[in-house]
Amino acid sequence: MSTKGQVIKCKAAVAWEHGKPLVIEDVEVAPPQAHEVRVKIVATGVCHTDLEYLYGRGKGMIRQFPLVLGHEAAGEVESVGAGVTGFSPGDKVIPLFLPQCGECERCKGTKTNQCRKNWANTQTGVLADGTSRISYQGQQVYQFIGVGSFSQYTVVPDTSLAKIRSDAPLDKVCLLGCGVSTGYGAALNTGKVEENSTCAVFGLGAVGLAAVMGCHAAGAKRIIGVDYNPDKLAKAVAFGATDCVNPKDHCKPIQEVLMEMTGGGVDYALECVGQPAVMTSAFESTSDAGGTCVIAGWTETEGLTLQIEKLLLGRTLKGTYFGGWKSVQDVPKLVDAYMNQKLKLDEFITHTLPLDRVNSAFDLIRRGESIRTVIGLWSRSDGPAEFKAPPLDDVNEFPTSGGCEGSK
Ligand code: CU
Ligand code: ZN
Repeated sequence: MSTKGQVIKCKAAVAWEHGKPLVIEDVEVAPPQAHEVRVKIVATGVCHTDLEYLYGRGKGMIRQFPLVLGHEAAGEVESVGAGVTGFSPGDKVIPLFLPQCGECERCKGTKTNQCRKNWANTQTGVLADGTSRISYQGQQVYQFIGVGSFSQYTVVPDTSLAKIRSDAPLDKVCLLGCGVSTGYGAALNTGKVEENSTCAVFGLGAVGLAAVMGCHAAGAKRIIGVDYNPDKLAKAVAFGATDCVNPKDHCKPIQEVLMEMTGGGVDYALECVGQPAVMTSAFESTSDAGGTCVIAGWTETEGLTLQIEKLLLGRTLKGTYFGGWKSVQDVPKLVDAYMNQKLKLDEFITHTLPLDRVNSAFDLIRRGESIRTVIGLWSRSDGPAEFKAPPLDDVNEFPTSGGCEGSK
């Protein structure tokens, strides 16, 4: 029986307040309006940004509750609103937190992927008309960065959706909705890593490992992975890292260690942590003449200090958002790259969980035990989940040195 034009009742993990675990609720998802598409979400990754939004205290984000988190997903089109021409029911798709309208100045140019269509609305968790399509007993539930994929159904604008090939496994390609695309593109599109260059990647979670993979794809001859978690360092080797450095093993600041290791600094440093001290270390580990530092991590923390005079001999400092990819046109190409074994995805997935275990995925991130957990929206576990909500502000500090006491 077709659900087109009708309100769909389904399960979603709802964030009721800041700092509290998600609750599985029966929500209602309204039909898509003009230029919107309703998507049946099949799988979604759990990204550090979801955790940060719920448990972090940063001031940069506008936090409105109740809210459906999740923004790294894949699914199938259920129905389309009036005026939608590019999508039909059954199409496999990846929702996009960064749209590509194809009509604005930025979309037409080659300088940036920062389409501004619906930007402010997306940031506050609503669609173009200022409301969301998800509700709970009549109360509006916001959609995180315009997506809200911890729900069996969601509605997105047709400019925030990539149509992908029909044979793509949704439980894998969902990772292209955020983390893997971000890191891979940070190296290839933003850093423009060159053949035979020397690179350092700071932070070896999903974004960092994808950055390592990007450096490797670009033909870098030396790729130095930097992390304090030995398991993640080991994993980086499988993605193409040639050297691993643990800041805790060193008495000096990590940038000095890298300077010595490389005889004057790396050609490319990619920061994939999102902490001010690590950003400084990454910047200062680049070659003073011609080195490029790309900031791919996101931070709301104040207190970033960079010595601008360190740019004077020719360093470049860049930021990247969604890896510089033009989302609608490039995500299907990344799916192709995965299908042709040119890009890894399976190796990022350390855990798979049903929707009612989504809080456990946050635990795994906090304990540094997962790279990516993929949530299957349509599977449920049988018993109650054990979970203790983490304290607010519980962000693991990434050390940039071991300190001289007790280190090697
Ligand atoms: Cu993300
Ligand atoms: Zn645009």
